Amino acid sequence: MLILGLETSCDDTAAAVLHLKQPPEVVADAGEPGPNVEILANLVQSQAEVHTPYGGVVPELASRRHLENIHPVTATALARAGVQLNQIDLLAVTQGPGLVGSLLVGLNFAKALSLVSNIPCVGVDHIAGHLASTFLSHPRPSFPYLALTVSGGHSNIFVVDDSTRFTLHGRTRDDAAGEAFDKVAKLLKLGYPGGPAVSRLAAQGDPRAFAFPRARLGESFDFSFSGLKTAVANQVHRQTEWSEQGRADICASFQEAVVEILVEKTLAAARHFACRQVVLSGGVAANPRLRQQLVAVAKQEGDLEVFLPEPIFCTDNAAMIAMAGFFNRHRAGRPLAMDVYSRFSTAAASAA
Ligand code: KG4
Ligand code: ZN
Repeated sequence: MLILGLETSCDDTAAAVLHLKQPPEVVADAGEPGPNVEILANLVQSQAEVHTPYGGVVPELASRRHLENIHPVTATALARAGVQLNQIDLLAVTQGPGLVGSLLVGLNFAKALSLVSNIPCVGVDHIAGHLASTFLSHPRPSFPYLALTVSGGHSNIFVVDDSTRFTLHGRTRDDAAGEAFDKVAKLLKLGYPGGPAVSRLAAQGDPRAFAFPRARLGESFDFSFSGLKTAVANQVHRQTEWSEQGRADICASFQEAVVEILVEKTLAAARHFACRQVVLSGGVAANPRLRQQLVAVAKQEGDLEVFLPEPIFCTDNAAMIAMAGFFNRHRAGRPLAMDVYSRFSTAAASAA
């Protein structure tokens, strides 16, 4: 089964072609759980240069750029995969959550492809896509497992029961983890997206240089990063100029506070829900310190196994959307009535 995935929820225009080897049921892949998948093409056209001068995504500019990019990116993905459009068995497109103008470009493009080529189309939730990204890498977890999904818009803790059923047990009450990284980068004038820039600089800094606050919120599995962001802003504004080392120390101390809370809550949730496997996903999951600490702390716990999708599958991509499309293939059909949505809900995610 050949699947074309399309993703335009924010500022990346992405297209991917996956080959799910026959039989298309969930089969053992080299002794591992999950479908037997080959990634034939996985393209992401970044718009970073458009949004960098503004220190964040400008929705109007993002949708205009998606309009320009969606056709060439899709055509290149098909060409790289060596596949003609009429060979595609299933179209999977991100339906939400995200920027409405951006989502509409991807969805309407998918509708047109589906209708002219008579290919069934399935709308996929972006967060369900992040959850599916773990099936693009090896080794893979077995259901049920605990998942931490941390991106620019979300910081969620899920128990994942199977490929389409998951329960939300923790979320951010204010800023998402990636949003906090982006805001700290903006304060320090490090450019957009901020996460990679902050984590690069943090590698040169001292994580104990500044005692930034950690919001633990009692026994809850929810997160809050706005107090931390304000504490970093207050520290930055204490001086008019910062040396390179000073900025690196701020980044390292901020990153340590985020990582500590993410790891602590994830492992507490794994214990609480009796999950022995933990999966990381979303753009912030590309953060090297988070990956390293989650593995290190889980090792101390002894009986916890951690699964880390490759960084290219953590940040936004269409391979994860195609994978989630495979899991939701029973819902595929003519997409005329499909619409986009801007906010996450578990109901929409499991029946997008
Ligand atoms: O999943 P994603 O690509 O897009 C959304 O769905 O939001 O996540 C993007 C977020 C951005 O906030 C970006 O700064 C952050 O992920 N990010 C990182 C790193 N790479 C991307 N945050 C921390 N460290 C990184 N290495
Ligand atoms: Zn994302």
